[in-house]
Amino acid sequence: MEASASCNMYGWIVLDPACRGQSSIQYLWVSIRAGHDPIRKYNPVMEQQVNLSSIDYTDQQLLATLASLSHKSSQTHSPNWLLTVDAAMQELQRASEEGILTSVLVEADTPRGWIAAEPQGHGSWEIHPLLVDPAASGRGYGRILVEDIERKMRSHGGIAAFLSTSGATHSTNLSDVDLYKDPMEALRNIRVRDHTHGHAYQFWQRVGFTIVGVIPDAEGFGVPSIHMAKRL
Ligand SMILES: CC(C)(COP(=O)(O)OP(=O)(O)OC[C@H]1O[C@@H](n2cnc3c(N)ncnc32)[C@H](O)[C@@H]1OP(=O)(O)O)[C@@H](O)C(=O)NCCC(=O)NCCS
Repeated sequence: MEASASCNMYGWIVLDPACRGQSSIQYLWVSIRAGHDPIRKYNPVMEQQVNLSSIDYTDQQLLATLASLSHKSSQTHSPNWLLTVDAAMQELQRASEEGILTSVLVEADTPRGWIAAEPQGHGSWEIHPLLVDPAASGRGYGRILVEDIERKMRSHGGIAAFLSTSGATHSTNLSDVDLYKDPMEALRNIRVRDHTHGHAYQFWQRVGFTIVGVIPDAEGFGVPSIHMAKRL
């Protein structure tokens, strides 16, 4: 986005193509009506320099910081998942196994998130996990990490990436219902119950993934697992 000589930019609003030509104020109104949270679009921190690299498993301070942010981040998405910092450290150690690709994002000197992908054969890769520090959410870091791991998967011959995302926060209408009755219809009508917090499936859609299925009761009665994939 470029500002004209007479226009000062104090931030940016990502314009929905349907809103092109309208002022930011109008877009905010459209966005609020649509249930989006336009505030998260304002992002002065994107001016920060961020660095990407694979996880350095000899760097104990890095691992400790990643474990701590992973524990906090998991609680916002799947409260029964990484219940302790130790559990998060085990998840990090699991990603050190041979063949697994990782990427960690560091903002200034602060690690802010990480992602891993494991080969599943025939050029397909499973992404798991993706964890961004809740204190740094909405800064585009999740997207940057996904794009980085996609580059790595492609360079290893990847043609498809897939993942599953939990219904454990009960924040979509796929939770607390009997999906066996008509899972395809349920997927066609998927929506979030709380637009303020949304659900990770919307993040994955924003970065190009498609919902390709759902496993009913995958994490207990009424707690499905939503499956998503993308061609690399
Ligand atoms: C989901 C998560 C990775 C998003 O990371 P992030 O850095 O905040 O996301 P980004 O800033 O890169 O957002 C990219 C886009 O997704 C959207 N988005 C991000 N989180 C969203 C949510 N919970 N609901 C709706 N949309 C969301 C953003 O608004 C942005 O939209 P844009 O394309 O219009 O700019 C992060 O919140 C997280 O780690 N959550 C907990 C763990 C988790 O859910 N991991 C994924 C499990 S499968």
